[in-house]
Amino acid sequence: MICIEEIEAQRQIIQREIYLLKTQEQRNILGQFSTPTILANDILRNALKLMPTGEKIRFLDPAIGTGAFFSALNNNVCSSTCIESATGYEIDEHYGKPALALWSKSILDYQLNDFTKVPSPLNESEKFNLIICNPPYVRHHHINGQKERLHVEAIAAAHMKLSGLAGLYCYFMALSHRWMRSNGIAVWLIPSEFMDVNYGRAVKEYLLNEVSLLQIHRFDPKDAQFDDALVSSAVVWFQNKKPDLNHQVKFTYGGSIESPAHEKMFSAGTLENENKWSRFPVSNEREVLITPRLSDFFSVKRGIATGDNKYFILTKSDIESKGLPISQFKPILPSPRHLSGIEVESDDLGYPEIDPQLFVLDCKLAISEVKQLYPELYAYLQIGIRTGVANRYLCKSRKLWYAQENRAESHFYCTYMGRSNKNGKKSFRFILNHSQAIVANSLSKAGSGGGYRQRFRNGSNIL
Ligand SMILES: C[S@@+](CC[C@H](N)C(=O)[O-])C[C@H]1O[C@@H](n2cnc3c(N)ncnc32)[C@H](O)[C@@H]1O
Repeated sequence: MICIEEIEAQRQIIQREIYLLKTQEQRNILGQFSTPTILANDILRNALKLMPTGEKIRFLDPAIGTGAFFSALNNNVCSSTCIESATGYEIDEHYGKPALALWSKSILDYQLNDFTKVPSPLNESEKFNLIICNPPYVRHHHINGQKERLHVEAIAAAHMKLSGLAGLYCYFMALSHRWMRSNGIAVWLIPSEFMDVNYGRAVKEYLLNEVSLLQIHRFDPKDAQFDDALVSSAVVWFQNKKPDLNHQVKFTYGGSIESPAHEKMFSAGTLENENKWSRFPVSNEREVLITPRLSDFFSVKRGIATGDNKYFILTKSDIESKGLPISQFKPILPSPRHLSGIEVESDDLGYPEIDPQLFVLDCKLAISEVKQLYPELYAYLQIGIRTGVANRYLCKSRKLWYAQENRAESHFYCTYMGRSNKNGKKSFRFILNHSQAIVANSLSKAGSGGGYRQRFRNGSNIL
């Protein structure tokens, strides 16, 4: 028989000691951020309410650390009669070794292993009916070498098609799907940004289509009971069964999980139609407008991100003096600071009538072709390789490091990062462009949209 109060006290000491041994940077790389005891207990109690009564618990924490959730489980149920089995995975032996010793007399099967590489159980009887996880908050650029493998596995496990910008926590949720018993409960403490950002769409589709999403709770940032990393978190509870036709989801906000300041049910249909879930439950579902919106006439895009403007953007005389082929360049406007007025005229070649005229390297030829056709450009690319430009994050992520993303020129540009004027108001300047110049990402461009015509032709979105 273990005494959970004593173990929890020791666990907190171990947790503090490990924190002191590691730098913030080291913790960020493995997404190490422990769940405060009070919160772990709140999350767990809510999960227990959702479990069918009398069912023995098979507990899994795929990123267990020192075991905050397993401790909370023992604190809230009688371990000898209610827990059938408990398993936790941890990649880092700094946590693993002391945690293994701490829980050695308990039922917990503590595995020092990379959860994303462990094969999931094949039989239903080996799966888990209670998965609770505060997964590693590791940003996408720290998982670069693993993305392809994780991407394929997330689709296979949960039909979750994650974009390259998704953090490791999304893959943890997807991969855990195969570890869940049918009708089992899962709880995830994750960054709430998934509710609004583009890469979160695949997570939301999973929550709406593959499982029955039960509740999402968010903390009020003004509520100081948890530190910074937590106020931007959301707790997500769901059950491993396909949703009913009229499925409703509880959204709670502020206060505590047990007694939230705001609470409201929303239908899965409402969630399906809303891109930004963070508006719930404080705001209601959006009214569907029948009046046209700006996006019905324009699509708005930021300008291109070159990865290194100094290297890629050259003046006409630079290009000429280096003997580079102008055909491999596109005219580009200078940054808003160097662009006065609100209209850009064009010369006969379509270049902007601005002094100096600027051009961005945008070559779509393979390096072997460049070598053969344009030796001077080939030599310039070699300089880019030697000086590390080719190795920069953005350049590296392109198919050809020296080819820019495809952006046609537009008649309308907006200086959306303009400086404040004397009255402290942001100066958004719209520029009418007659030339063929594109822009870098300090400006955004507007093209013609088709949404309005589409919506009204279909008539489907009017009501
Ligand atoms: C956000 S912490 C949560 C720790 C603990 N569950 C808690 O709530 O306090 C995430 C944990 O996952 C571990 N981790 C990171 N990558 C992992 C992986 N691939 N497999 C298993 N554990 C991993 C980290 O070392 C860290 O201990």
